[in-house]
Amino acid sequence: MAYSSTFTFVTSMLLLLILAACFNPTVAQVSSNFTPPALPFAVKGPYLNAWLLRKNPNLNSNWARFWNTDSDVGSFTAVIVDNTSYGLQGAFFGTPSSMKAASELSSKYTPTSTMFTMQAGPMQVNATFLSPVTPQDLSQQSLPLSYYSLTFSSTDGAPHSVQIYSDFTSEWIATGDGNAVANGSTIDDQQLLCLETQLVKPTPFTESDDFALDSTGVYATSSSNIQGIQWQIGNFSVVRGLGVNGTGLSNTVDPTFATHPQFNPPGVLAMLADLGDITATTSTPFVIAIGTFRNPSVQVTDLAGEKQLRSPFYNSNSGPSSIHDITLSFLQNFTNAQATAEEFDNNLINATIAISESQQYADLVSLVVRGAMSSMEITLPQSSQGQQDLSDVEAHLKDMGGVQVGAEKSSGNVSPVDVLYAATPMYLYLNANLLGYLLKPLLQAQQNPTYSGTIGFAAQNLGGQFPKAQLQVVNHKLGIEQSSNMLIMSLAHAQTSGDGTLISTYYALLKQWAEYLVDNALTPNSQSSPLADAISYTNQTNLALKGIIGIAAMGRISSLMNNDADSSRYQGVSQDYISQWQTLSVSSDNSHLLLSYGQQSCAGQVYNLYADKLLQLNLVPDQIYEMQTAFHKGQLNSGSFTFGLPLDTCNPTLTRVDWTMFTAAVMTDNLVRNGMISQIHQYTGNMFNSSTNTPLSTVYDPTTGNNSLGINR
Ligand SMILES: *[C@@H]1O[C@H](CO)[C@@H](O)[C@H](O)[C@H]1NC(C)=O
Ligand SMILES: *[C@@H]1O[C@H](CO)[C@@H](O)[C@H](O)[C@H]1NC(C)=O
Ligand SMILES: *[C@@H]1O[C@H](CO)[C@@H](O)[C@H](O)[C@H]1NC(C)=O
Ligand SMILES: *[C@@H]1O[C@H](CO)[C@@H](O)[C@H](O)[C@H]1NC(C)=O
Ligand SMILES: *[C@@H]1O[C@H](CO)[C@@H](O)[C@H](O)[C@H]1NC(C)=O
Ligand SMILES: *[C@@H]1O[C@H](CO)[C@@H](O)[C@H](O)[C@H]1NC(C)=O
Ligand SMILES: *[C@@H]1O[C@H](CO)[C@@H](O)[C@H](O)[C@H]1NC(C)=O
Ligand SMILES: *[C@@H]1O[C@H](CO)[C@@H](O)[C@H](O)[C@H]1NC(C)=O
Ligand SMILES: *[C@@H]1O[C@H](CO)[C@@H](O)[C@H](O)[C@H]1NC(C)=O
Ligand SMILES: *[C@@H]1O[C@H](CO)[C@@H](O)[C@H](O)[C@H]1NC(C)=O
Repeated sequence: MAYSSTFTFVTSMLLLLILAACFNPTVAQVSSNFTPPALPFAVKGPYLNAWLLRKNPNLNSNWARFWNTDSDVGSFTAVIVDNTSYGLQGAFFGTPSSMKAASELSSKYTPTSTMFTMQAGPMQVNATFLSPVTPQDLSQQSLPLSYYSLTFSSTDGAPHSVQIYSDFTSEWIATGDGNAVANGSTIDDQQLLCLETQLVKPTPFTESDDFALDSTGVYATSSSNIQGIQWQIGNFSVVRGLGVNGTGLSNTVDPTFATHPQFNPPGVLAMLADLGDITATTSTPFVIAIGTFRNPSVQVTDLAGEKQLRSPFYNSNSGPSSIHDITLSFLQNFTNAQATAEEFDNNLINATIAISESQQYADLVSLVVRGAMSSMEITLPQSSQGQQDLSDVEAHLKDMGGVQVGAEKSSGNVSPVDVLYAATPMYLYLNANLLGYLLKPLLQAQQNPTYSGTIGFAAQNLGGQFPKAQLQVVNHKLGIEQSSNMLIMSLAHAQTSGDGTLISTYYALLKQWAEYLVDNALTPNSQSSPLADAISYTNQTNLALKGIIGIAAMGRISSLMNNDADSSRYQGVSQDYISQWQTLSVSSDNSHLLLSYGQQSCAGQVYNLYADKLLQLNLVPDQIYEMQTAFHKGQLNSGSFTFGLPLDTCNPTLTRVDWTMFTAAVMTDNLVRNGMISQIHQYTGNMFNSSTNTPLSTVYDPTTGNNSLGINR
């Protein structure tokens, strides 16, 4: 137990997190009356990322949507009880007209799972969407597969016959390109029914509206204990009709399936399973695996133009290697995966409640874990099949929220540094090594003299469009911001993981950035922070502070490397700068920090204080924290802000979830901290009413809760 409570996160959707908790756990459960704007459906990777928008809160009145909310990703399930069919999931109301809608009794979610209880005639059906989060197990974490499981019980105690019809469409692999043509195929052996769809003309490492145009979509179930499971691939209205009206499926592929643009209308790949008579809960749930496979998954081009292809981490297992075998093993492992997920959920929820003493923080953290963990590809070189050479693990983050500096909506950039910085507490908490895998490609690329000999500060990303990583040698206006982010994250990684490899290997590069900060941080002049349009002051106090913390972080890095000369230099400079900074930054009435040197009229969130606490630098004196706490307490008590505190009082209609959580984390009064968390919770619940209905948007107007500001998803 070392850290105080610290949170945050974001990748696109959002989040917050805790560092280390060591308290008495209290009762943990997900609150049932909290309705977030969207719930995870299958959220396991950048391209397996489907959400249920809760605008119309019924599992069977909405299609699942891709994370960017531009397109549906179709999947439809009906349960047929005693020859009467009930639509269970997906918004299909076609034939037969006799099909009824199951009614939704309740829904809830945990960090790994989203669960619905539905009533279909005399049967109660639980539908659970589990996307495992296994931060310590990279093989499992890198698998692009989620579980969709169904359990049943008879509510009148009598046995009833149950059949399950379920399908998915090729929208899962390319809705973004409406002209793409997809094909379909089936593997139906004694163990597995595996429905697969691929683009007839795949384009490697290329996105269209955030879809990768080189995926194989998979919808599969274990068939070993189901007699006579049926399947069919073809026209959606025909196949769904046959599946739900008692005719049955034909075990055939419609030869015209691969001749239609897959979006007009989508063809379906369907299964029909007869589960026989059911009275109590079935001993074995009916489990479907949903996946989108890509291998290799990332292409890295270095500054000499050399290309390296990287494969998902699980590919290095000596175990199964075909899609069929991997999917079968995934399905066979359901019981284990479910138990592991339950333990993960309990631990995380207990930790969040222990820290905040409130369910609200648990609600928020639970909502964003799958989003944060799914926005990266964890890889090894393609050549490493069958060998787990952990020295060459890398992870690349996709900017899935468009909140990266200067980015349009979904920029799709690779490893955006300020987005990674916002998500850092999450990764540190779940597995600090992950942060190392994410930092390594950034450090490695910039160490090349073509970059470091030209540009003295850190880059803002590894280029784009995901999944193609290629560092660009370009100047930008964020030298202080990104150099500080890199120094802070590198030290946080070393401190939390105990692994000094990165800070030792890239010491010279980190020192170059620290020297840049020595030259620039105290007087940032016109340099900007993320959200440059909104906060465009010169000499930003919050930015200068981050730079000074970056210098102090280099002092700690030097000390860890036993370089006493460097350590005392950076420690000395940071001490000197922080006292000058205080003189320039504290308001003339000593009541709060300014946002720009000497400019007395505006105040706001100086969220970069968070890094001082995270790294335990003790650079900023306690009275500054107390002063800011009193200032924010006054804002909360004023009642002017329902959904959050503004970043800048002179621009009161703009704030961000991630930075507010950083600010909350450093408050010296838990009531103030919890008040800020409570506002974010309020905003998140209110998004249910907003027009965008996105999973959870970072940037918003704290006076109205409006998140349609055109900045983020
Ligand atoms: C979480 O807290 C509950 C209630 O105190 C307790 O029953 C449960 O065992 C805890 N779980 C873990 C994993 O500590
Ligand atoms: C369902 O339909 C089958 C085939 O037509 C019939 O044999 C069976 O009796 C029906 N079951 C019920 C409960 O109506
Ligand atoms: C369905 O979920 C509800 C609520 O969590 C639970 O009480 C019930 O036992 C579950 N039923 C089945 C058949 O799994
Ligand atoms: C589907 O298309 C892919 C890519 O062209 C091809 O490799 C695969 O064999 C096709 N599958 C079928 C069943 O035609
Ligand atoms: C699908 O079937 C319906 C009903 O038979 C028909 O109207 C439609 O044209 C078919 N679509 C395709 C793409 O074959
Ligand atoms: C079942 O649906 C199919 C496809 O729409 C249709 O051709 C068939 O006539 C239907 N059968 C019954 C018994 O309704
Ligand atoms: C099954 O799942 C557990 C929990 O995630 C994991 O530790 C184990 O490696 C998995 N086994 C297989 C064969 O995938
Ligand atoms: C920033 O502050 C420094 C020192 O206070 C001052 O000399 C400089 O003019 C300021 N820069 C701008 C652009 O205002
Ligand atoms: C959301 O909309 C519902 C229905 O229109 C309304 O009753 C509720 O008050 C709204 N909630 C908020 C927080 O605006
Ligand atoms: C939300 O903000 C956007 C952009 O300023 C504006 O166009 C929209 O009308 C606002 N929506 C509401 C409900 O106020």
